[in-house]
Amino acid sequence: MDLKGKTVLVTGANGGIGGALVKALLDKGVAKVYAAGRSTAAVAELSHSGDDRVVPLRLDVTHAASVAGAAEQCRDADLVINNAGVNRCMGFMGPAAMENARQEMEINYFGTLAMCRAFAPVLASRRSGAIVNVCSVIGLVNLPINGTYCASKAAVHSLIQGLRAELAPRGIRVIGVYPGPVDTKMTAGQQMPKATPDQVAAAILAGVGKGDEYIFPDPMSQHVHGMLEKDPRQVEKDFGAMVAE
Ligand SMILES: NC(=O)c1ccc[n+]([C@@H]2O[C@H](COP(=O)([O-])OP(=O)(O)OC[C@H]3O[C@@H](n4cnc5c(N)ncnc54)[C@H](OP(=O)(O)O)[C@@H]3O)[C@@H](O)[C@H]2O)c1
Repeated sequence: MDLKGKTVLVTGANGGIGGALVKALLDKGVAKVYAAGRSTAAVAELSHSGDDRVVPLRLDVTHAASVAGAAEQCRDADLVINNAGVNRCMGFMGPAAMENARQEMEINYFGTLAMCRAFAPVLASRRSGAIVNVCSVIGLVNLPINGTYCASKAAVHSLIQGLRAELAPRGIRVIGVYPGPVDTKMTAGQQMPKATPDQVAAAILAGVGKGDEYIFPDPMSQHVHGMLEKDPRQVEKDFGAMVAE
């Protein structure tokens, strides 16, 4: 997809990968970016972007009325980037695992599903629409220290695969993004090599531009993907060895 002149919606746009995506989309010459944040404070922050192509939007992907309102307001969207997500950074046996797992499923999986369902008719009417769902490379193999998060992202990966087939006849492309660790609020305090949000945003838009269906936007995700292609059981074992004490 040539992004020049397009209208794009980004969820979770108030910082992290979402904020970097908004900046990178403006640099690519899009006509408009609906930059969505879930709180009043987030939307206020977005309205000070200084570029009149940015249209701040209040959107909580877990609220049906909020999602329906966004689809009603953004009828000119060509591309929807479902980037909003949470990671409670816990294994399946952690004290709050049930509650965390439900929250992660609610936001990462059901929120993304709700957005795709609400925007499919909008994108179909544009005839060249696309959906980008930000998954994670640990949606392809479980990292037990983030066990419940990985399960929610595995659900997102399955959603991407199913939607790709289901929406193709309506002219909508579905693209999956599988980052490794990125230096954002989500990974604050975790000591490991991380890509920058700007690097990841640039790689996502480059992949969208080339028509890629699978985007591994950073060196770590490319490395893990390569290992998964060769020996998925070995990656599972290696990741399993990183169980929290
Ligand atoms: N950072 C990483 O290492 C990494 C790696 C792989 C994949 N990812 C994925 O990349 C995406 C962006 O994450 P990030 O690293 O940029 O993290 P981040 O800085 O924490 O950003 C997450 C965004 O999601 C928003 N959000 C959370 N719940 C929401 C809801 N119910 N409705 C709407 N928006 C909601 C947050 O809003 P608030 O500011 O209001 O909380 C925030 O804007 C996520 O899907 C994440 O799973 C991240």
